[in-house]
Amino acid sequence: MKQLKIVNVVGARPNFMKIAPIIDEMKKYPAIQPYLVHTGQHYDRVMSDLFFNNLGLPKPDNYLGIGSGGHGEQTGKVMIAFEACMKEVKPDVVLVVGDVNSTIACGLVAVKMGIKLVHVEAGLRSFDRTMPEEINRLLTDQISDYLFTTERDALANLQREGIPEEKVHFAGNVMIDSLLKHLEKAKSRDVLRSLEVEKGGYALVTLHRPANVDDKEVFGRLLDTMCTISKSIPVLFPVHPRSRNQIERFGFSELIEAHQNLKLTEPLGYLDFLHCTANAKLVLTDSGGIQEETTVLGIPCLTARENTERPITISCGTNIMVGRDTDKILEETKKILSGDAKKGRCPEFWDGNAAKRIVAKLWELEGTVVPDRAGVTI
Ligand code: UD1
Repeated sequence: MKQLKIVNVVGARPNFMKIAPIIDEMKKYPAIQPYLVHTGQHYDRVMSDLFFNNLGLPKPDNYLGIGSGGHGEQTGKVMIAFEACMKEVKPDVVLVVGDVNSTIACGLVAVKMGIKLVHVEAGLRSFDRTMPEEINRLLTDQISDYLFTTERDALANLQREGIPEEKVHFAGNVMIDSLLKHLEKAKSRDVLRSLEVEKGGYALVTLHRPANVDDKEVFGRLLDTMCTISKSIPVLFPVHPRSRNQIERFGFSELIEAHQNLKLTEPLGYLDFLHCTANAKLVLTDSGGIQEETTVLGIPCLTARENTERPITISCGTNIMVGRDTDKILEETKKILSGDAKKGRCPEFWDGNAAKRIVAKLWELEGTVVPDRAGVTI
């Protein structure tokens, strides 16, 4: 039978929940051979393994084991290993998601080998080129053959950069496919007790952006703000490894220990974190994905950044930009605690069917030209 061989790439934590529904959907097509490559950009039990288990992702066909490093080193190592891997696998299509270093590294390798490249979550722009992710987004979109967007406005960003409209398809949000699929299971998790917080009675915080945690003064001010909030409501802070390293380097542990209501934990798995988000009074974050998840869950979200590449979470959802301004963060927190939280609604096509749309479109575009692979196994 003719088979369309598609390599799906994961590297870092936010990739896992985006690829899982796409692979599930590909498996429904007898003539699609989905293949999974994990670059190993994230490798810890809590940053990677737990997500594979929680999301039911298959074991990767190839694990490249790249690990941490500077941007050049990490991107370069992924490229070298992925190129060798693609020479073996010889796929028809490579599919990358999001904006991490593994996304651009594998995308560059694919196009230079003449393999069709698909970018899922295309066209998001923060217009802030000091963010490594913005560079990854811009470049990946430039070289992709098929671009799937999560919000309609992304098309205008892509057209402004000279990308023809025919390449762009509005599909919705695959991360929300995962959220909706796992929400019931996540709701039944029993994680709040061990974290010593109560349903609806805590603020959930995540901070890991270099702009927020790599500068002692900025990170210190954000921690002080969290300490102040913890006097009104317990603050739960699952700490990303980058932030954990900085807390130790900057000597912030004593400040944290002096505030009993500021509760730090190791990073949580997908289901436990979803449980914590769905039951929070408010979320303070610098993550991209969490701005979207809170919008769908209707949980108030304060984003500790100066800009967002996901403007629909502001125009339509529960998200508010608070920057790194202590007064603004405290003012918005106070509003939420007094019952005056911003209301939102769910954006178009964030409905659990994004992966369906993507795979159907890919099949329509590439399925008719699939090579005959009779007898070839992967
Ligand atoms: C990466 C992504 C970012 C995403 C984030 C989610 C890029 C440029 N950035 O940032 O967009 O929001 O993932 O987590 O790709 N570490 C571990 N264990 C791991 C992985 C990392 O301890 O499994 C530590 C290492 O000390 C490492 C640091 O975290 O140096 C940063 O990891 P890295 O992958 O470079 O970037 P993130 O900050 O995680």
